[in-house]
Amino acid sequence: MNSLDRMRLEPAELRFDGEGTPYSPRYGDVYHSAESGPGQAQHVFVAGNGLPRRWARARVFTVLETGFGLGLNFLATWRQWRDDPARPQGLHYVSVEKHPFDRAALAVLHRPYPEFAPLARQLQDAWPPLVAGMHRLHFEDERIALTLAFGDALELMPKLRLHADAIYLDGFAPRLNQDMWSPRLMQRLAQLARCGTTVATYSSAALVRQGLEAAGFAVEKSPGFGRKREMLRGSYAPNRPQPAPAAPANRHAIVIGAGIAGAAVSERLARRGWSVDLIESRALPAVPAPVKYAGVFHPHVSPDDCILSRAARNGFLYALRRWLALEQSGLALRWARCGVLQLAGDPERERCMIAAISAQGFPADFAQFVERGEAETLAGCALGSGGWWFPGAGWMRPPGLVAAQLRAAGPALRTHVGVRVETIARSGDDWQALAADGKPIAAAPVLVLANSNDMTRLASVAQTLQQTRGQVSYLPEANLKAPRIVLTGSGYALPAADGVVVTGSTYDRDDDDPEPRLRSHQANLLRLAQLLPQAGLTADAATLDGAVGFRCAAPDHLPLVGALPDVEAVRGNKAGIHSVSLSDLPRCSGLYCASGYASRGLVWAALAGELLASLIEGDPLPLEGDLADALDPGRFVLKQARRGRL
Ligand SMILES: Cc1cc2nc3c(=O)[nH]c(=O)nc-3n(C[C@H](O)[C@H](O)[C@H](O)COP(=O)(O)OP(=O)(O)OC[C@H]3O[C@@H](n4cnc5c(N)ncnc54)[C@H](O)[C@@H]3O)c2cc1C
Ligand SMILES: C[S@@+](CC[C@H](N)C(=O)[O-])C[C@H]1O[C@@H](n2cnc3c(N)ncnc32)[C@H](O)[C@@H]1O
Repeated sequence: MNSLDRMRLEPAELRFDGEGTPYSPRYGDVYHSAESGPGQAQHVFVAGNGLPRRWARARVFTVLETGFGLGLNFLATWRQWRDDPARPQGLHYVSVEKHPFDRAALAVLHRPYPEFAPLARQLQDAWPPLVAGMHRLHFEDERIALTLAFGDALELMPKLRLHADAIYLDGFAPRLNQDMWSPRLMQRLAQLARCGTTVATYSSAALVRQGLEAAGFAVEKSPGFGRKREMLRGSYAPNRPQPAPAAPANRHAIVIGAGIAGAAVSERLARRGWSVDLIESRALPAVPAPVKYAGVFHPHVSPDDCILSRAARNGFLYALRRWLALEQSGLALRWARCGVLQLAGDPERERCMIAAISAQGFPADFAQFVERGEAETLAGCALGSGGWWFPGAGWMRPPGLVAAQLRAAGPALRTHVGVRVETIARSGDDWQALAADGKPIAAAPVLVLANSNDMTRLASVAQTLQQTRGQVSYLPEANLKAPRIVLTGSGYALPAADGVVVTGSTYDRDDDDPEPRLRSHQANLLRLAQLLPQAGLTADAATLDGAVGFRCAAPDHLPLVGALPDVEAVRGNKAGIHSVSLSDLPRCSGLYCASGYASRGLVWAALAGELLASLIEGDPLPLEGDLADALDPGRFVLKQARRGRL
């Protein structure tokens, strides 16, 4: 399978067989037993895995499924969880699906099941656009997390990072859908299991049984559902049992930095029941003062669907869901999903953009190419070219987002504002954040550095991060005919909001001037004139207002999110470093970071917060393992050590 096939998602077709059972013409099989979909889900998968007994009073329970289909197994599990007084505090349900249905088809497919109606509606409402990769959806005030992995199971299973407590094997019949039952897949399931993990499937095929047994599962036949006489159920019983990973005992963290990175991490940890001390050197007013600044958020597209594109797609979609959830909980955000148009600029680039986007088959409500005429209609102004159109993208005022996240964190969050962390130190099992006078501001077993460019002063990642000054300009609305949507190209221009058009921005290396200056306004006006040649721009750079900030970027332009490496320990073991991988790299126990968001802080912050909280808690990761590795702050030390440069 080449990389283009991998990123292109082919949705399922909505079809029924003669008995009215959902049917896949692609595989020539039905989605569930003709007798009853919910009945099969309950008998084979829920009861087959010993639920609800096995999850009684667990803190978190994780179900892994092959084949999400119409989601009946998920809905049955969710309903069981709701009905169970001894339900686990948290339920993770991770399901891999190569050919997802779209939302409209799901609504049709769920109609015959009134018993699931309220849950099915929530699932349909939260259903992501059909794009490859992982999508985490939260339900039940976040006590249930559904992580959908859209793509081929053979490709995605090795990329899942989780410990399954129960496994639902629900591909189509093994003779029609061999990939879903292959020995390779069974071996991978065993790697994701721990001693006692149960497995159940409607199939009783010898091949399935043999595959599971060869992978280390003890399997038995038991009565099947409906017309099926037998099914298989079993549990993982490896020859050499591995110890279960220990959950953190003292769930208390310090987060340094209350920008969009630190606010998201704090909120994600607090929502999981952690107490958080958030330390910020700036003053943070309880109600943020009105600001003109707004940042842009949109997906990243590349011809080969590179790591950045895949991770940013996940980040963009997760951020949208988080922000909508904040609003639904009554917290106000100042933002707009007006759409973002990334202009090509010239015909050659237009051709490249068309080729890149058509290879990936994105749904039009996620990303599409629009010709110049259509682009002009969308923007409401004359443009020089067409470009990529992201209808769900837009702009956001970050201070309001930070304030909303801190409120959402609730009483578990203690803020220390106007206090700068001068150093950090280990004291017993705790990390201490110390002020300039040497006094501890807070102490906790977990410390997260979310202090952007200041991070590497406090801990090493064996790599210098690039600080780049940036200035935006605020144009009075009267100075130009503003676009109705966000335009990006050589620079960007936002639609007018609160009387102002935000435009920018400069990239000034080796420049630490914190004040807005004329030269940067002039550069921004020049960019704006290229973007909007007929906007009737009348602004005088000398009179403009603006803002300055400093980006923080790693050389690969990917964020740093995860456990910090113990650089000294790696230095001391240079001889053995060639056999070390990221997973066994020495780490500074309890020390994490969320930094290096470069020019895409809005796209990274929410997903990075969820990723970090998942890593700290030992929850299933919300993105593929190769992407988590690409963001791992240990990546540089490993690379330097292997090249003999540490
Ligand atoms: C001009 C410009 C335009 C941009 N446009 C966009 C855009 O359109 N879209 C987008 O997504 N991104 C944009 N970005 C990038 C975006 O602003 C960053 O990615 C984002 O702000 C990073 O968030 P952060 O929380 O990591 O860092 P910051 O926002 O810098 O927050 C770090 C916080 O840590 C605090 N801190 C630092 N050191 C300490 C310490 N020792 N003790 C206590 N507190 C400390 C700081 O006071 C600060 O509040 C732009 C950046 C610039 C400069
Ligand atoms: C029997 S249906 C699953 C029914 C589902 N569990 C439910 O509760 O509704 C099988 C599913 O496996 C999916 N599938 C088939 N081959 C796959 C593969 N190689 N990788 C991932 N999913 C696959 C199909 O698209 C289909 O949705």
